[in-house]
Amino acid sequence: MKALITSGGKGTRLRPLTHTQNKHLIPIANKPILHYAIETVIDAGVKEIGIVTNADCDEVQNAIGDGSRWGVRISYIPQEAPLGLAHVVKISEDFIGKEPFIFYLGDNMVVGGVKRFIDEFEKDGSNCHLTLAKVKDPERFGVPEIDNNRIVRVEEKPAKPKSHFAVAGIYIYDHHIFEAVNNIKPSQRGELEISDAHQYLLEHNYQVGFSEITGWWKDTGKPFDLLEANRLVLEHLVPQIKGEINGKSYIAGNVTIEKGAKIINSTVRGPVIIGADSIIENSYIGPFTSIAENCLIRNSEIEFSILLKNCQVLDIGIRIESSLLGTDAEIVRSEEKPKTHRFFVGDQSRVELV
Ligand code: G1P
Repeated sequence: MKALITSGGKGTRLRPLTHTQNKHLIPIANKPILHYAIETVIDAGVKEIGIVTNADCDEVQNAIGDGSRWGVRISYIPQEAPLGLAHVVKISEDFIGKEPFIFYLGDNMVVGGVKRFIDEFEKDGSNCHLTLAKVKDPERFGVPEIDNNRIVRVEEKPAKPKSHFAVAGIYIYDHHIFEAVNNIKPSQRGELEISDAHQYLLEHNYQVGFSEITGWWKDTGKPFDLLEANRLVLEHLVPQIKGEINGKSYIAGNVTIEKGAKIINSTVRGPVIIGADSIIENSYIGPFTSIAENCLIRNSEIEFSILLKNCQVLDIGIRIESSLLGTDAEIVRSEEKPKTHRFFVGDQSRVELV
């Protein structure tokens, strides 16, 4: 079994973070989202992975490498234009060959791994195995119609969904998927839709099985999804203190403090991860917060948030919560007169004041 993982797209719903960074490299609990996808397929026994990238950028290759750090082989398949998920599969035919494979959207996160789905696919001897998750807003996803415990139809982002399920971005196929992606036509938005490939398989009497993801699954497309994913990963954090904690500080719950980080006269209530060389001084860091490396937090309170590297939060009198700060972001108090709010924020940023 090989794996095909996506890492392309523009990440428009995560701007401004994605103006300067591929969304798959945004960290969750201080580890890039894409690492979770890679480690999930490796845990299921996969040794050969193809990652599909935006052809105009080698950011992902540079960050992930050839797979040797995980003891697997990673190859890169450039996609010239964002022509849809079925197009991603289409251009990967040479890499996959005749083997069955798991197709994993690199921004999806799932708890409990994917081995159970691969086992089901193999046990059923099906041509395609879909994973379904119950969601409140199925119209945002591919949606199956289920009759008598069988999928009878799949529609992409339907106005009137036929079930409460989303087809999650974790699919397992045998080589017949290539017949499907080579025969479907682009949708109205000009993309080869993966749901149309599934519909093709159904219409041509191929066997399409499914598993329900009963645990946690997230498509981390929007800012709040990132905070939720971060919360979930931190819930399983294994605490580890490699940095320094000054005597007047109080550390409670599962907290990881990386090498070179310093906690000075502060309270850190886990689960929290604090990256290498970050300094937390006279501050409170509350549950479900990930602070990347080299940040400085002084005289401030932060909870349920993600800070990317090199951020500074200084002398802020009100608790910061449910926030995402990009690399090098600064939130500081100014004593300058006149006493006004002064902003220097990038395109598509959002600031909420009380
Ligand atoms: C894509 C697929 C959709 C699937 C979803 C899962 O949607 O087209 O069928 O349900 O991923 O994450 P997108 O995230 O590209 O809108």
